[in-house]
Amino acid sequence: MKIDQSKPVLVTGANGYVASWLVKRLLDEGLTVHAAVRNPNNDQKIGHLKEAAANSKGQIKFFAADLLTPGSYQEAMEGCELVFHTASPFKTDVKNPQKELIEPAEQGTENVLKSAKEVSSVKRVVVTSSCAAIYTDAIDTVRAPGGQLTEEVWNTTASLEYQPYSYSKTLAEKKAWEIAKSQDRWDLVTINPCLILGPALNPQNTTSESVSILKMLGGGEMKMGAPKMGIGMVDVRDVAEAHFRAGFTPEAHGRYITAAYSTDFVEMGSVLLPKYGDRFPLPKKALPKWLLMLVGPMTNKLFTRKFIRNNINVPWKADNSKIRNELNMQFKSMKETMEDSFQVLVDEGIIKAK
Ligand SMILES: NC(=O)c1ccc[n+]([C@@H]2O[C@H](COP(=O)([O-])OP(=O)(O)OC[C@H]3O[C@@H](n4cnc5c(N)ncnc54)[C@H](OP(=O)(O)O)[C@@H]3O)[C@@H](O)[C@H]2O)c1
Repeated sequence: MKIDQSKPVLVTGANGYVASWLVKRLLDEGLTVHAAVRNPNNDQKIGHLKEAAANSKGQIKFFAADLLTPGSYQEAMEGCELVFHTASPFKTDVKNPQKELIEPAEQGTENVLKSAKEVSSVKRVVVTSSCAAIYTDAIDTVRAPGGQLTEEVWNTTASLEYQPYSYSKTLAEKKAWEIAKSQDRWDLVTINPCLILGPALNPQNTTSESVSILKMLGGGEMKMGAPKMGIGMVDVRDVAEAHFRAGFTPEAHGRYITAAYSTDFVEMGSVLLPKYGDRFPLPKKALPKWLLMLVGPMTNKLFTRKFIRNNINVPWKADNSKIRNELNMQFKSMKETMEDSFQVLVDEGIIKAK
């Protein structure tokens, strides 16, 4: 599907950690961005986007929209050939997963994509899904056919009770494919990133769990050691680029696992040690599995015994060849991602030296 770059492009959840880099990429390309946010009058949340627009060749126009209100994104979508649907809650500390995760993710996707059926200008929709729609625990990756995740695999292990964020992303992506198949004017492409790290464009006001993880690494919570759980990682700037290419590469199709490498929290900490180890309480070693089994469930409600069994000392395996071959993606090194993310938090005083 060829997209006319003179037409505006919609980004839902435009102020988010990931979307902010995408908006900047689009603006730098000279495009007009229709930025849909919950509150266009909240300068703390969108000031960085206005600044990015002022320093670019592109234009930005803000629209108020909410995932739970049907038709909310329709006005912002008018005239757009390309829609990037990134908005979805990314948090793990929730009291009511149905209300806080599942409904905004699934109904939100339904609302946005149903509007795409109504708005005749739309030709392509790129949905920010997740590797969470493919797997829940590291053990699922090694148990996948061929011993690694591919775009063929769907998450069958998350539920409302166990890892509801992953469940929300699975239901949302399924809904997206169901709606895409009910029409033939636009095509759907999904970007399925693993854990995204890298510098935030608006670090003081970013609620993404990605920034919380960086704070945990540098803030001393893991100074006695980190859980060695297999996880995939990718830089936020590469994820924005992947969205851009998925939007503007006519042949782009289907799902794209967007993962740079396989790692774990111990390695993430050790990459930072040479530059920051003397000033910040970074993890230096792995916490033994038996200790996690013993104290994990008491310290963090995510660290249930089931979670520990399925993730600790289990490698993370995924095949990223589709995005490398079809969208020509190359990925930043772990050192660059970790150092750049960390430096922003240090510069902003979010992580303080000991
Ligand atoms: N970060 C990762 O590691 C990662 C990995 C894979 C996939 N993803 C996906 O990437 C996307 C962006 O996540 P992120 O990390 O950038 O998190 P984020 O910074 O928290 O961004 C989430 C965005 O969704 C918006 N949103 C949440 N609930 C909404 C509602 N009810 N109505 C309207 N907007 C709502 C947020 O708006 P407010 O700012 O107003 O709350 C924000 O703009 C999500 O789809 C997430 O699942 C993230």
